[in-house]
Amino acid sequence: MPEADTQETKDYYVDVPQRNPAVTLKGSGSYDWGMTHRLARGWGLESGKTVMLAIDHGYFMGPTAGLERIDVNIMPLVPYVDAVFCTRGILRSLFPAWSKTPVWLRASGGPSILKELSDEEIAVDIEDALRLDACGVGVQVFVGGPFETKTINNMTKLIDAGYRYGVPVLGVTAVGRELARDARYLGLATRILAELGAQVVKTYYCEPDFEQVTAGCPVPIVMAGGKKLPELDALKMAYNAVQQGAAGVDMGRNIFQSESPVAMIQAVRKTVHEALKPEQAFEYYRDLANELAKAK
Ligand code: R5P
Repeated sequence: MPEADTQETKDYYVDVPQRNPAVTLKGSGSYDWGMTHRLARGWGLESGKTVMLAIDHGYFMGPTAGLERIDVNIMPLVPYVDAVFCTRGILRSLFPAWSKTPVWLRASGGPSILKELSDEEIAVDIEDALRLDACGVGVQVFVGGPFETKTINNMTKLIDAGYRYGVPVLGVTAVGRELARDARYLGLATRILAELGAQVVKTYYCEPDFEQVTAGCPVPIVMAGGKKLPELDALKMAYNAVQQGAAGVDMGRNIFQSESPVAMIQAVRKTVHEALKPEQAFEYYRDLANELAKAK
């Protein structure tokens, strides 16, 4: 028989109205608890922003520069990120299962860089994403590409599956070589992904008018980094994107191809989470990079 509750006095705080927990992430107030919980895992609680590390490039590019040995080059960065974006192959073969870092799983694929890139299929079952305890799945969508409808269909199928289990979908706006990365195109592509149900959208930064892209997209946008730039330029881009409405970054090559990836990821954190100006973040990067080089 369980013990009776013998406490004489109880306090129900009858004068205190019950607080409704607020969801601060843009457009995310109407999801079920599990989906919201998964989304929240990958976002910094205080700043409401995220620094995700994208290391999924091998799914179509093979051993990309900087990702040849993920165990050697990437593992030291993991403590500094809010989430990792990777494939299930890398997760299972190289990530320690006791890592507390949330994982977004790359869930589309098919063609390599040798073929038509937009000809993708869904590459991960939602059940496997759950088995891997992913906080969400990511899928490439080629708006304006030769297989536009097919890639949109990949995304909407994953969104339906995601709603069955509470798994958010991150839609990635893939930009073919022939398409301009301007606000008009990115505004079109991000809005389409959000309208069709993506809970998060990843896209590239553009100038001018990136703030129109983020304003027109009803769900959080995270900025993809793109090709390697000088560190100061990459920090400026991350800073500007967040100041202009991005909910964070999901950067790859500008981190892992940096002269000092461990210093760069920490400098990016400063710009995203603390709004440190790019010039100061660059000084921070340089000092830390020198310190780390000396310590080797
Ligand atoms: C590329 O296909 C992937 O979606 C990457 O995750 C994305 O482009 C971000 O990586 P990067 O910053 O290197 O562009």
